[in-house]
Amino acid sequence: MVLAITNARALCPGPESGRIDTVEQATLLVEAGRITSLSSGGPVPAGARFLDAAGRIVTPGLVDCHTHAWFLGDRAREFGERVSGVSYLDIARKGGGIQSTVRATRAGSSAERTTELRRRLRRLAENGVTTVEVKSGYGLSVASELAALEEIGSLTGTDLPDLMPTLLAAHAVPPEVDSPAAREAWMREITQTLIPEVALRKLAGRVDVFVESGAYTTEEARRIAAAARSAGLALHLHVDQLTDGEGASLAASLGAQAAGHLERVSEAGIRALKEKGVVAVLLPTATLVAGAEAVAPARRLIEDGVAIALSTNLNPGTGPTESTSLMFFLAAVGLRMSPEEILWSSTRGGALALGLTEVGRLEPGARADLVIWDAQDFAHLPYHAGINHVRQVFRAGELIVDRSGQSECDGRL
Ligand code: NIG
Repeated sequence: MVLAITNARALCPGPESGRIDTVEQATLLVEAGRITSLSSGGPVPAGARFLDAAGRIVTPGLVDCHTHAWFLGDRAREFGERVSGVSYLDIARKGGGIQSTVRATRAGSSAERTTELRRRLRRLAENGVTTVEVKSGYGLSVASELAALEEIGSLTGTDLPDLMPTLLAAHAVPPEVDSPAAREAWMREITQTLIPEVALRKLAGRVDVFVESGAYTTEEARRIAAAARSAGLALHLHVDQLTDGEGASLAASLGAQAAGHLERVSEAGIRALKEKGVVAVLLPTATLVAGAEAVAPARRLIEDGVAIALSTNLNPGTGPTESTSLMFFLAAVGLRMSPEEILWSSTRGGALALGLTEVGRLEPGARADLVIWDAQDFAHLPYHAGINHVRQVFRAGELIVDRSGQSECDGRL
């Protein structure tokens, strides 16, 4: 049956970075999981199921292109330490940080991990997310990294966002690695065992590396990138987060699809991202939580023509929230992004970062991943901070979230 959403303000992310075209009094027709028509006051076929948006804004579902949602445990105590001034790297050196989540995640059962992942993904859906990338990276052994991707993949096809698993075996150095020889053996396991097997079994579409002092070196990232390339997997990198390691230039030289963080990206790095068309994934929650004094230079990146994706970076260390409302607010006040830039980067920009063409758009032919928000103007969302304005979420034309009885504000302060 055709679904007709009428009387909507349709906000359509355009092909150019930051461009949003508005269709007033829009009628959207949805059939077989796709948008089949979008026009102002267009006709509705007889027998269609009606949904009156009553002037509310409709956008594509959000594409959250950088998360570490597969984990057990939390780090609330450590958060307190960081707030009182202890650095992220110092906590990591004492065995906290990522390593403490690795211990908690390994200690749990597969059922516990998938239950917790499911709860987080459901919260993301309730925040308007219809596609989410989920990284491994808290297993750090061949068996547990494979288990991570299997568990993430097992949740596909439910009332959750669409999942895009990513292999991040090179997140932290495994606790068992205590010598250069052991490190070399782990590198071989990543490049010669994990990556080929992940590609063969189609467990993930991309490989990520945390390039940072205390994590992985530029040279190791090159080796992992080469293995990913020969296995036909795309590359994402975590770079220039805590220190400027010329990571953006590295990402560009390795043909990465996306480079995340970039709080300390250099001028040369910005030029390299632009030249090679690498998407800059900005994570405003992580900037604040990690206590970095530096903020990613969003305005410079935008002015220089680099496409930006915004993401929650949901993780127990630097991204302990599924709130997209908070992300919008921090992108506005922290990164100085306009409402149009925020919307574009959270939809079409996220899709670009993941190499997806069917989502992040509101146009005929696109997958009918849609959010109806309790607001008439997208500018209200980053402004009215911390309030969930999501009213209804459709994934491939199916209603997966209905908060229409729970309106917190209906676009008013
Ligand atoms: O993207 N930077 C590395 N990885 C995550 C943090 C993970 C953690 O602290 O557990 C990030 O910020």
